[in-house]
Amino acid sequence: MSAPSNNEAGAWTGPLSILAGRRLALVVTGGVAAYKAAELTRVWTRAGARVRAILTENAVRFITPLTFEALTGEPAYLSMWSRPQYNIEHIELAAWAEAATVAPATANFLAKMAHGLADDFASTFLLAFSGPTLAAPAMNNRMLSAPATRNNLKTLTQRGVTLLKPDTGLLACGEVGAGRLAEIDVITLTTARALTPQDFAGRAVAVSAGSTWESWDDIRFLANRSTGRMGRELALAAWLRGARVTLIAGPTVPEPPTLPNLIFIRVESTCDLLAALKGTDFDTLIMAAAPADFRPAHRVTGKVKKKVNPPALTLATNPDILKTLPRWVGEVVVGFAAEDDDLVNRARAKLADKNLDLVVANQAGGPGGAFGSPNNHIRLIFRDGTVTELSPRPKFAVAWAILEAVATLHPRTTN
Ligand code: CTP
Repeated sequence: MSAPSNNEAGAWTGPLSILAGRRLALVVTGGVAAYKAAELTRVWTRAGARVRAILTENAVRFITPLTFEALTGEPAYLSMWSRPQYNIEHIELAAWAEAATVAPATANFLAKMAHGLADDFASTFLLAFSGPTLAAPAMNNRMLSAPATRNNLKTLTQRGVTLLKPDTGLLACGEVGAGRLAEIDVITLTTARALTPQDFAGRAVAVSAGSTWESWDDIRFLANRSTGRMGRELALAAWLRGARVTLIAGPTVPEPPTLPNLIFIRVESTCDLLAALKGTDFDTLIMAAAPADFRPAHRVTGKVKKKVNPPALTLATNPDILKTLPRWVGEVVVGFAAEDDDLVNRARAKLADKNLDLVVANQAGGPGGAFGSPNNHIRLIFRDGTVTELSPRPKFAVAWAILEAVATLHPRTTN
């Protein structure tokens, strides 16, 4: 599988780089959330996708085709009959698009999709389109839970349409309940996943990310410079490739969007991280975290006041998580090695000492250091002694390459 490309001179380097150069159809139907489709379009075009919008007659009561044409530089489609040209446009568009996302999808339009009606451009296009199709319902909560809508959603799921679960909250009608359009990030990442080969489907991947905090009173702690970006990108890359992912992250790692099959666990200390991993089911473990090796031997309750003499900090050694967790048949275990010198040899020693299948070695500090940087320059050290150096690249592209390597590893045959 080819690595995702970057666009806009590398401005968009994260998971959405999957969308660069892709051809996306966005079907906008007539609900209040239609205005959010403009923001969705903006996010997609900024990620480098080509986007063509198709609006229903009712969508045009909320937003105009011109909005989408201006945002995308592509034609927006409305009527079957508006353009007197020879091409049969809905068929041509169905051949052009790589994925079709309906957002927002009204109850009426979902019913049309479920029953194969084709009485306007949008429904005719979808009937002619055989690629990945997604729908993000948005409507009143009672309309959503009505048996007819529920049946239609079931039919669409059985037919392979990916449904984006509506959020719960304040609805346009003033009621509170389920029916809000899913978040833009969630629609976008789910569309990106629909375009990604699912070579990690069926795998349960646990990724640890970031620094841990080791408190010495209730306010202060010891930590390190890891931001957790590498681990977060790894978790999202594995999710995009179809894995069920558990991301276990230290306090500074930004929470990822709420996605099905992506569990997010926040931890504070190295001992918390160990406990969380012990409670997680995985067949692939990627330890990208930089857990603190030491913790204060004594934690003071409350806040130590300045007027007392500076307290002497005595440190205790934290458990080595990779060494503590048992190995099981069928697992693949990947560690990182953050080194300031003799990178490859030290990483090799860690592979043996920690019983790993693969070590990702990177520079801990200095100008090329991985911590806090958007890029990473890694070497992959395999169990058979092979070393592969990757040129420096954005952390999402690094994550992709690490997963390429993981996909080639054979699961363990002994504990
Ligand atoms: N690691 C771990 N438990 C710890 C510390 C680190 O499991 N208490 C994991 C890291 O997540 C990483 C690997 O071990 O995958 C190597 O981490 P690194 O910080 O490079 O090495 P250390 O084992 O901490 O050894 P040193 O600090 O002496 O280099």
